[in-house]
Amino acid sequence: MPDFVSKLLENNRNWVKNKLQTDPDFFNNLSSRHEPQLLWIGCSDARVPANQITGTKPGDVFVHRNISNMVVHTDMNLLSVLSYAVEVLQVKHIIVCGHYQCGGIRAAMSNTSFGLIDNWLRHVKDVYRLHLSELEAIKDENLRYNRLAELNVMQQVYNLCKTSIVQSAWQKGEFPYIHGWVYDVHDGILKDLDVTFNSHHPLPDLYKFDGI
Ligand code: CO
Repeated sequence: MPDFVSKLLENNRNWVKNKLQTDPDFFNNLSSRHEPQLLWIGCSDARVPANQITGTKPGDVFVHRNISNMVVHTDMNLLSVLSYAVEVLQVKHIIVCGHYQCGGIRAAMSNTSFGLIDNWLRHVKDVYRLHLSELEAIKDENLRYNRLAELNVMQQVYNLCKTSIVQSAWQKGEFPYIHGWVYDVHDGILKDLDVTFNSHHPLPDLYKFDGI
């Protein structure tokens, strides 16, 4: 086995040993329940690991990650995760977390073809088109990338709000709260974009479901 992969298994044994030294019941407790309060929808980027950057532990966060943290309403993977998180786990919060220096955002803003992924990134191009005048007014290219990363998070928050899964939960109670955050790979800081919702009221009427 290549050294890199063997090292991972060795790391795992050390991690188990350390956990058991501090808390002999660590795995017994973890295996007896799965009750995360939070669904995290983040980018697949290796530099943005949900647990580490939020100081949370195994068991705390239900995680879905894809390129550029998209909420695409025909994506069965996302919809299955969302449905399970909201209807079964009954998470209190959903955080869509984007990040600056996102390769997907950068690729979507270019005219280069990257193969199959062009089809996924077209959703990001659609966000760009929605905010064309604001983005084209930003002359600095990096600032424009960063602003699109923020606008993309906001759009994915709205996309979550538009799902029947989330709206159905809101008809029964106040949860889940949906938040949009962005992470800065340069300094490790998470920023709240102040797009928190727990009702469908801010949506255009066309997207509001009755009686579900
Ligand atoms: Co990214």
